[in-house]
Amino acid sequence: MIELTTAFPVCIAGTGSYLPEKILTNAELALRVDTSEEWILTRTGIRERRIAGADETTSHMATHAARRAMENAGLTADELELIIVATITPDTPTPATACYIQQNLGASRAVAFDISAACSGFLYAMKIAKRLISSGAFKNALIIGAEKLSSVTNWEDRSTCVLFGDGAGAAVLRVAAADEGAILATEMGTDGNLTHLLKIPGGGTACPITAANVNDHLFTLNMLGREVFKHAVNRMKEAAEKVIERAGLTADSIACVIPHQANLRIIDAIADRLAVPNERVFVNLHKYGNTSAAAIAIALDEASRSGAFKRGDNIVLVVFGAGLTWAAAAIRW
Ligand code: ACO
Repeated sequence: MIELTTAFPVCIAGTGSYLPEKILTNAELALRVDTSEEWILTRTGIRERRIAGADETTSHMATHAARRAMENAGLTADELELIIVATITPDTPTPATACYIQQNLGASRAVAFDISAACSGFLYAMKIAKRLISSGAFKNALIIGAEKLSSVTNWEDRSTCVLFGDGAGAAVLRVAAADEGAILATEMGTDGNLTHLLKIPGGGTACPITAANVNDHLFTLNMLGREVFKHAVNRMKEAAEKVIERAGLTADSIACVIPHQANLRIIDAIADRLAVPNERVFVNLHKYGNTSAAAIAIALDEASRSGAFKRGDNIVLVVFGAGLTWAAAAIRW
């Protein structure tokens, strides 16, 4: 059952992703901070992550992912009407990273803006784009999750530096034809009482970076991991259950669950609580670590290209991140 407010059904017409070539392994990290390959692998499921080079800005990675998604969808830059970029690592505080991508693509007709919802950003962007297309305001949209988390990582903090990586993923959304799949249901949530669990404390108006505090790691990600973990499992389960119910699905009718790629133990707990067998849960965390807003976008692209599901299959995407924020989507592919 498609959401009642949907005037035009909206489908995902193409996906793309981009990962920097440079690999940083657990063994290399163990030489930098007091950790071990075994601790990282057993506590997180991560084996390695990608690290962007100096020229690989967020917009650079996002533009590559976008071109692949547009090629996959058969959409030209001239036809593109809307670009929404989810990121917590923009090229510049202003203008929006989406504006640089619009320029790179030559998509001069497209309205372009960023949103900030941490790891949940790509599915927030999906819901916004879906509503704008289903209402008739836009015919198509490019949504992108892109992050250069290596630029906001404290490389001396073993509790966070082993977790994050860089990359970008993108999807093209457009009005669906009658014989095509559609985004069936979406869900978003926020709990601003828990902002303290995961944040970059400095660099904004609350704590501008000054000459006096520049060495205090204020511009890097701080996280109370154990607390975040508990909320992540509960919120992702609830969000996924809501879209599954609203879309009229059951655990048996879901071909693939694509969860946020932050920790394999969180992913296993979600699969267990949704009663979806592990072989139907997509994981690429071991290769890329947590790439925040990019993670689910990259996973969607890799899962669809690897044949984890096929046209007509039902899939569920579910994410969680700083804010705290969470979101889910049920999609007929
Ligand atoms: N190597 C070795 N030991 C470590 C490391 C490390 N890299 N990091 C922490 N430890 C130690 C701690 O100091 C602690 O030691 P202690 O018991 O002597 O105090 C011990 O390991 C256990 O620490 P915990 O933090 O309790 O470890 P936990 O099992 O919770 O794993 C982790 C930590 C991986 C961060 C986990 O809590 C997690 O994945 N949390 C959720 C992260 C997440 O989902 N984030 C969401 C989005 S991110 C975004 O929005 C940008």
